[in-house]
Amino acid sequence: MGYAPAMRNLDQHTITESALERIAKCNNPRLKEVMIALIRHVHEFAREVNLTPDEWMAGIEFLTAVGHITDDKRQEFILLSDTLGLSALVDILANRGKSKAATESSLLGPFFREGAPELAAGDKIARGIEGEPLMLSGRVTSTDGKPLSGAHIDVWQASTDGRYDLQFDNFKGAEMNLRARFRTDGEGRYLIRTVKPSSYGVPSDGPVGKMLNALGRHPFRPAHIHFIISASGYRPLVTALYIDGDKYIDSDVVFGSREQLVVKYRKGKAAEADAIEYDFVVEANSQSR
Ligand code: BEZ
Ligand code: FE
Repeated sequence: MGYAPAMRNLDQHTITESALERIAKCNNPRLKEVMIALIRHVHEFAREVNLTPDEWMAGIEFLTAVGHITDDKRQEFILLSDTLGLSALVDILANRGKSKAATESSLLGPFFREGAPELAAGDKIARGIEGEPLMLSGRVTSTDGKPLSGAHIDVWQASTDGRYDLQFDNFKGAEMNLRARFRTDGEGRYLIRTVKPSSYGVPSDGPVGKMLNALGRHPFRPAHIHFIISASGYRPLVTALYIDGDKYIDSDVVFGSREQLVVKYRKGKAAEADAIEYDFVVEANSQSR
């Protein structure tokens, strides 16, 4: 970094060195590293686009609106991070060292709820919901192929009309639907009955929705089903399965869909429901970096 110029000599380049010099005494090494990079990049951004005062004020007003609409039920900052691809990038970086044999992770999203009912193998997670029946089955194994008995499977999804239980018209605040917790059997197997999910739009009645619109982007996620697989001694796997053929599979508004997580419905015979079979592979804690 070297020499910091005197304040009166600041120009569009030396101001960056000066701002960096101000945090030279920060004694938290990680905070310092992150803030040095942040200052360098935001300054470079302003120089690259030749940011005007009016434009920066519009940016500040946008971020203020994102803050104002955020409360304990709605997190517009996370939605902003999701729609800019930053959440997916942070997730990819965090999983870089993971074994190639393990199932890829995908965004948790805002609709996971603690305390979903614990159901038995083969139970239905959709109660009183119209939709085409769907059966989910497969195994949970370790990266060396060992079936994991007693692993927890948290599952949650949107309905056939693209809404989570929290978004139902008659939702009163506590009831749970289209979500549950299962355990794998002695052979690591799971069996879940549900209805087919549909694609849905992320909340777009706020500033992030306006931003998507101004950028010519749609607000949709392809149809998917969320899972968290947890087993003692293994890294929890937060992931989702995405339905092949969905119109939005290659343009997920939050960059969550992944080739490895795209599944096809297997047609059921006669009166049987269509099915998805998927084996989840989790990595032992000791294998983490
Ligand atoms: C979801 O899949 O539930 C989700 C993820 C990110 C933003 C909005 C919804
Ligand atoms: Fe979702």
